[in-house]
Amino acid sequence: MDMQAAPGFAVPRLVPPVPAPPERELPTLRFIAAMRVNGIGCWPASAYEAPLRRRRLFGRTRFTVSDPDLVRHVLVDNAANYARTPITIRMLRPMLGDGLLISEGTAWRHQRRTLAPAFTPRAVETLVPHILSASDEAVAALEDPAARGPVDLFAALQRLALEIAGRTMFSVGMARHGDRLRGFLEAYAARLGRPHLTDLLVPLRFATPLDRARARFRRDWVFFLDEVIADRDEGQGGREVVGEARDLLDLLRAARDPETGRGFSHEELRDQVATMILAGHETTAVTLLWACTLLALSPQTQAAVAAEAASAEKPFTRAVIEETLRLYPAAFVLARRAVGPDVLGGEAVEVGDSVTISPWLLHRHRKLWRDPDAFDPGRFLPGAPPVPRFAYLPFGAGPRVCIGAAFALTEATLALSRIVGHFRIERADARPVLPAAVVTTQPDHAPAFRLTRRA
Ligand code: HEM
Repeated sequence: MDMQAAPGFAVPRLVPPVPAPPERELPTLRFIAAMRVNGIGCWPASAYEAPLRRRRLFGRTRFTVSDPDLVRHVLVDNAANYARTPITIRMLRPMLGDGLLISEGTAWRHQRRTLAPAFTPRAVETLVPHILSASDEAVAALEDPAARGPVDLFAALQRLALEIAGRTMFSVGMARHGDRLRGFLEAYAARLGRPHLTDLLVPLRFATPLDRARARFRRDWVFFLDEVIADRDEGQGGREVVGEARDLLDLLRAARDPETGRGFSHEELRDQVATMILAGHETTAVTLLWACTLLALSPQTQAAVAAEAASAEKPFTRAVIEETLRLYPAAFVLARRAVGPDVLGGEAVEVGDSVTISPWLLHRHRKLWRDPDAFDPGRFLPGAPPVPRFAYLPFGAGPRVCIGAAFALTEATLALSRIVGHFRIERADARPVLPAAVVTTQPDHAPAFRLTRRA
């Protein structure tokens, strides 16, 4: 049996299953259908070796970039030339309004400057008690005798990630609003948040029937968010916070643009709240699910995570999360549209062309990684050779790098440590879990797990 090195012990080489790639390039309609159901199915095996790919789609060129130097060019050196795509805006604006994720230009710069201090590692420290309390309650719920037998861990992790998002944002548990919040998110993900052919074909200035449904959704969603914010303020006696912030909402309210001194209006604040909840919870939930799935397949690695649970420092658990994000990057593609002409690897890019960078392809690229499909947290341990910056992009890079990256890594590491420290995790059936990616890299079904309390 192949073995690979980990800290102080050797573990059998683990290559988790993936869907077989199509044998050759898909024709357009099948390509679009694959994008809607599972983007992984868009790429033949040759895509995992190519530095740059191009295909024509509806009269435009679509580039897929997997060369670290070209990635740096798009995301950093010439980032101003690559904007959010119309389809991203179309699908996300009803949820996120004009929040950070989809704003552009001066509006984006103002928001990013204003928000940055709320997401520094020091600010994240103030949110740790919320992460721990929510994780402990999730563990307690899983311990409930009524929850014995096969457990739908994905559902539990989604609840946990949403609970953490809610508590870090509002300081209060999601008991009152959680069900409705989940209802909104699920309804959106099931239909309105999926790319439809008309989303690609109809220019953004014309509303499609789906756009009208999205606009109706937005009215209810905004009403709901205002209600939650008002409720939270009332529960807190409506007081302005002076001094210590209790949660992200306090941090966002206190935030001022360092250049202009301007803070957020109520509407702007609400859009940032929606943005942070949406950008942060599903990404974290799928990351935790993949980490648990990998650890169930690798009992020795799981034992090493459990052994670290009582320590304050958790380098190995963190390496497991980073390796999980390599194999199953929660953000499946970074999509951009060229706003001016450019040259990429000798090829002409025209205005309106789309440029995608897929962390999925990049992280499993044959030319960039040793044994790319194998799960090996050792790659991310202190002392391992450094991972090339532009070959590993779970949080993107450049000016639009994930603002919540430090928070997400802390959250995922602590939550995984709490769960695995408490339970031994095994699969309750033998059905392989395959990744299926549309926006985030999801499991193709909710696998059943068996949890046993550790001695
Ligand atoms: C494992 C968890 C997470 C992953 C994998 C992830 C991944 C990413 C990636 C790849 C981007 C860049 C997208 C692009 O360049 O097109 C991004 C942006 C962003 N993320 Fe995250 N994220 C995670 C958690 C979070 C959390 C917890 C928050 C907030 C609390 C957050 C808020 C945002 C925001 C607001 C942006 C947009 C930044 C901008 O455009 O300036 N993310 N995220």
